[in-house]
Amino acid sequence: MEILQKIKDLGEKLNYYNLKYYQDSISEISDFEFDKLLKELEDLEREFPQFKFEDSPSHRVGGVITKNFETVVHKFPMLSLSNTYNEQELLDWDERIRKGLSGEAYEYICEIKFDGISLSMIYENGILKRAVTRGDGTQGDDISANVKTIKSLPLSIKSNDLGSFEIRGEGFLPNSEFERINLEREDIGEAVLANPRNAASGTFKMQDSTVVASRNLDCYIYQFLSDTDSFENHEQSLIELKKLGFNVSQTWAKAANIQEVIAYINSWSEKRHSLPCATDGIVIKINNYKQREDLGFTSKSPRWAIAYKYKAESKSTVLKKVTYQVGRTGAVTPVAELEPVELSMTTVKRATLHNADEIARLGISIGDYVFV
Ligand code: IVH
Repeated sequence: MEILQKIKDLGEKLNYYNLKYYQDSISEISDFEFDKLLKELEDLEREFPQFKFEDSPSHRVGGVITKNFETVVHKFPMLSLSNTYNEQELLDWDERIRKGLSGEAYEYICEIKFDGISLSMIYENGILKRAVTRGDGTQGDDISANVKTIKSLPLSIKSNDLGSFEIRGEGFLPNSEFERINLEREDIGEAVLANPRNAASGTFKMQDSTVVASRNLDCYIYQFLSDTDSFENHEQSLIELKKLGFNVSQTWAKAANIQEVIAYINSWSEKRHSLPCATDGIVIKINNYKQREDLGFTSKSPRWAIAYKYKAESKSTVLKKVTYQVGRTGAVTPVAELEPVELSMTTVKRATLHNADEIARLGISIGDYVFV
C-alpha cells in the first residue's frame, strides 16, 4: 500500500479507538494491539516526516522539547468569575439578573467549578491548531505540545459546520494520577508533588512533552466561542461538543430558577469529592447567548455568570516549626507554626498537633507541605 495511505489509515484507526474509549468507555482492541498500531505509525512517521499530520495520534506520546513557550494574544480575553459564598449573595445576584433582563424569562446552567488551570484550544477547519494558557487573561503561553498529550481531547473533529472556533476548559491532573505519581516518586526517593492543582500547573508548563505524556493530564471542556452564531444557548453547545467527542463533564444541569441552582449546589457539596478532579465550587451561567450579550461584562468578569465557592475544608501549606504549648493542667501540646494560609475566609498560621504519635507515624518534618 502507498505509504501516505497507510499513515492516514493508521491515524484514523487509532483516533477511532481512542474516541470510542474516551467517549463510550468501549475498548474495541486491547492496549497491546493499540500500542502496536501506534508504534507502527510512529516508525512510519519517523521515516516519512512529511506525512506526520497535526492531528496524528502520535502527538499524544510527546517527543517535543519547547525551550520557550510562544506568547499568544487571546482573541477573546480570558476573564475570571466573581465569587459568592452564601445563599444570600446568590439571591442578590439573581435579583440583578432579573432586573438586567427587564422581566424576561431566563434559565441557568449549573456546572462544577473544577480547580485546575484554564486552557484555550483553537480549532481551524476541524483541526486543533493551538492550546494556550490563560496567562494574564489577555495573552498566554502556547503549550500545544503538552496539551496534545491529553487523550480525551480530540486532535481533530469531523464536523464541517462549525468553521473555526475556540473551546475553553479546565486542565487537570486526575487525583488517581496524582497518587500514582507520588507513590512512584516516593519509591525512587524523590520529593512528592504538593497537591494535584500545583502538579497540574507545573506539568502543563514542562519543556519535555514526553514527561507530560507520562503524567496523563486531562481536561474538561466548558465553553465554546466563535465569530458565527453556531448555537443559541450554552446547553446546545455542551450537547454538541460532547457529541463531537469533547470531554464535557456530565455533571452539568439546567436550572429553571435560583432555587433549583441552590438545590444543585447542595446536591454536590459532598458528592463532588468523588469526582476525578479537585473542585472548589459551582459555576452558574445564563443559558441563552442573546441574554448573555444583553447582560454584558464588567471590566473583570461577565455579569451573566458567577461562581459559588464551597467553604474550603482544607488547604496545604508549609510547616515552619513545631512549638510546645503547656496547658493549665501541665499537659504539653505540640503546635504547628505554619506559613499563613487563607482558609474559609480566615488566615491560619498555627494548628495544634493533637497526637504526637500520629506526627511521628506520618513522618512529617519541617519544610513539609501539610494540610490544614
Ligand atoms: S466558565 C468568564 N466554567 O474558573 C469566565 N469556568 O474564576 C468563564 N473554571 O478561569 C469561565 N470550572 O478556569 C467556567 N465549569 C466552569 C469552570 C470554570 C472551572 C475556572 C476557569 C476560570 C475560573 C474563573
